[in-house]
Amino acid sequence: MTDLQVSRHKLTPEVQLELVSLRAMADALGLRYATAGSISATLRELGVVRRHEWLVRRWLLALAAEGVIELDGDSFQVCGVVPESGVVDLAELQECLRLPVDVARLHAGALTVLPQLLRDEITVGELLAPIGTEQDAIAGEGLSLLTDELDDACANLFLRKLISIRRDLRAVEIGGGTGRLTDAILSEVPRAADDYLFTDVSEYVRRVAAAARPQIWTAALDVNEDFVAQGFPNTSADVVIAGHSLHHAVNIGRALTRIRDLLEPGGELLITAPVGDDLAALTSTHFLHSPAQDREVLRGGDIHPPERLWRVALRATGFSLLTSMSVGGRSPVRHHLFHAVREAI
Ligand SMILES: C[S@@+](CC[C@H](N)C(=O)[O-])C[C@H]1O[C@@H](n2cnc3c(N)ncnc32)[C@H](O)[C@@H]1O
Repeated sequence: MTDLQVSRHKLTPEVQLELVSLRAMADALGLRYATAGSISATLRELGVVRRHEWLVRRWLLALAAEGVIELDGDSFQVCGVVPESGVVDLAELQECLRLPVDVARLHAGALTVLPQLLRDEITVGELLAPIGTEQDAIAGEGLSLLTDELDDACANLFLRKLISIRRDLRAVEIGGGTGRLTDAILSEVPRAADDYLFTDVSEYVRRVAAAARPQIWTAALDVNEDFVAQGFPNTSADVVIAGHSLHHAVNIGRALTRIRDLLEPGGELLITAPVGDDLAALTSTHFLHSPAQDREVLRGGDIHPPERLWRVALRATGFSLLTSMSVGGRSPVRHHLFHAVREAI
């Protein structure tokens, strides 16, 4: 019998990255064409630790979505093979997609040791050392060439709000990370710096951000805790910016409610987020989202919720969606921008 190659029409760099990740998943799981297996036996035979089991289940779903396997409850049949990606130089591909350096390094390193990562014989921290940290990878996860476009769109929407309000804007950025979005906004609107509060849960991130941008304010803010108790009074912001950080909320509805209360009625919220999990993350940065033993993974393993969840959650928490735009299609570097306003009542 000849292998059934799952057909792909055009190998864009985004698709190539997807195929590289998909092939690594299939290899790590030891899938062979025209064989059958079960999820429970695969987990057992590979020695996958409990906290990473959700990743194996997500890999199998991804392989099923591509037609490589057919899933039936706990059983699966391997009915196709992952097409050739044509990638000769992974580092060059990652650079072309402008993945942050630590994220690219983690992805390249993880692909070669996926079984050991699943067994916790190697940790993500070890892969990143000595020149990067898990925090560096978290701060850069999901960012790419295409997120630049959304950062610029956010900066433009920020400027429009500033023009409409005719006074200085009180801005709070949540999960500022590498500060890419911060820089995009401040380069479009330099005077915003006087009332710009960069926040992050990580002390390390805040220290790096403050050293690089002495003109802005920095503070600790955890989206999973009460905002007022953390020193962020109700109605004390005109704009809240959350660039690819709200997926860290254990409960997205609760986090959006806290943001709504932080905003003045009529205040605006700019969220960027990958919508849906991607294959490169599932083989690299998502290891960072595996819970400590005996804890649950966020949203049952939907680290980046789909677009419709964001829309529903925004509406349910008292926001009206003003603008919504996407870049990157379904590729591993896709990203979405939601621009919403806090309703006046
Ligand atoms: C992908 S990064 C953000 C990227 C950043 N906005 C940028 O454009 O470069 C996510 C950030 O969220 C922060 N974070 C993680 N958990 C958080 C929490 N519970 N509350 C607030 N921020 C959190 C991380 O420290 C990280 O810096």
